[in-house]
Amino acid sequence: MTSDATPLASHIARLIEETGPIPLSQYMALALGHAEHGYYMTRDPLGMRGDFITAPEVSQMFGELIGLCLADAWMAQGAPAPFALAELGPGRGTLMADALRAIRAVSGMVDAVEIHFVETSPVLREAQKKRVPQATWHDSVETLPARPLFLIANEFFDALPIVQYQRTERGWCERYIGLSEGRLAPVLAPIPLVNDKSFPAAMRAAPIGAIAEIAPASAAIAETISSRIVAHGGAALVIDYGHTRSAPGETLQALRGHEYADPFDAPGEADLTAHVDFEALARAVRAGGAAAYGPAEQGAFLRALGIEARAATLCNQATEIQARNIETSLQRLTASGEMGSLFKVLGIAPRGAQAPAGFV
Ligand SMILES: C[S@@+](CC[C@H](N)C(=O)[O-])C[C@H]1O[C@@H](n2cnc3c(N)ncnc32)[C@H](O)[C@@H]1O
Repeated sequence: MTSDATPLASHIARLIEETGPIPLSQYMALALGHAEHGYYMTRDPLGMRGDFITAPEVSQMFGELIGLCLADAWMAQGAPAPFALAELGPGRGTLMADALRAIRAVSGMVDAVEIHFVETSPVLREAQKKRVPQATWHDSVETLPARPLFLIANEFFDALPIVQYQRTERGWCERYIGLSEGRLAPVLAPIPLVNDKSFPAAMRAAPIGAIAEIAPASAAIAETISSRIVAHGGAALVIDYGHTRSAPGETLQALRGHEYADPFDAPGEADLTAHVDFEALARAVRAGGAAAYGPAEQGAFLRALGIEARAATLCNQATEIQARNIETSLQRLTASGEMGSLFKVLGIAPRGAQAPAGFV
C-alpha cells in the first residue's frame, strides 16, 4: 500500500493479500459501513461543509410535500391507527421533521403515528435524535413493526452495495477488487457466469466490454417493503438518482468535498454510490405483491404535489433575500438538468388501493 492510504484501504489490502480479491459488493459495504472506518459510521457527510447536499437539506418544501403525499395515502386507506411512518437512511432527520410539521394539519394523524428510522450510522442517529427524539431506530427493515407502513427512502438505495459483471469473450465475469502496483483496483473473476438468464434482456444483448450492474441488496429491501405493505396496508416513496430502464453501463461513483473522486482511492473517506435501476426496483416491488407507480421525474412529481403554490406561500411571508433563496431552492429541486430530472420517484401501494399522489 502507498503511504497516503486511508486506514480502511490498508485494512482491505491486508484482506486481499490474505484471501485474494474481494467482490465489489463487499468493498462497497466496507467502504460505507465498516464499524470503525466506514464512511457513514464516522461522519455527517451532508451539507456545504460535507461531501454532498440532499433535497431535504435544500428546502423544507421537500419534506413537507412528502409528508402530505403519505398523509393523502393514509387517509385514502381509511386512516389506520396506529400506523408506522418509516424512513430509510434519514440523514439528519430533516425530511421527517418537515413531514411531521406538515401532517399536524391532518386530523388524527399525529396521534396515530409511530416514527421508525432504519439507520446504521451512529453519528447520524445522534443528529436524528435531536430533530425527531420520539423515533425508534432499526438496523434493517426486517425489524419494522407489523403495522400499516407509510415509508420514505430518499437517497438510500444508491448507497447499497452492487455487483458488477463485465462481458468478455468468455462470457460475463464478475468484477472484484484486487491490488495493482500497491493500489486497490478492479480485477475480473477468471471464471465467467454459467449463464445470464437472470439479467434483464437489455443487459444480455450488451457488447463485449460492457458492464452490467445488479443490486441484489436493493431488490431484497424493495421486496420486503412491498410484502409488508401488501400484508398490513400502507404506501412508500423511493426517491433517488437513477435510470428508468435497466441498461448496461457503469455508474459506480465517489464524491468527496462536492467533487468526483476515484472510487478505489480513499475508501472510508469518500461517498460511494451507484445509480438506482428503477425498472429492477419496480420488478422487486411487484415480486413482493404490491403495485409500483412511475418512476416519475422528481420535478414533475413535486409540481403535481403543489410545490409551486407552497413556494409562493412561503415567499409571501419572506424577506426579499429569503424569497430569492426559496426561488433558487425551487429551481434546484424541480428544474430539468438539476435534481428535477436526475432524480426519479417510485411509488408503492397495495394493488387496488389509490395510487400515491404525484404520479400523473
Ligand atoms: C445519502 S444519505 C441520505 C440522507 C437523507 N435521506 C437525506 O436525503 O438527506 C444516506 C443515508 O442512508 C444511511 N445508510 C447508508 N447505508 C445504510 C444501510 N445499509 N442501512 C441503513 N442506513 C444506511 C446513511 O447513514 C444516511 O443516513
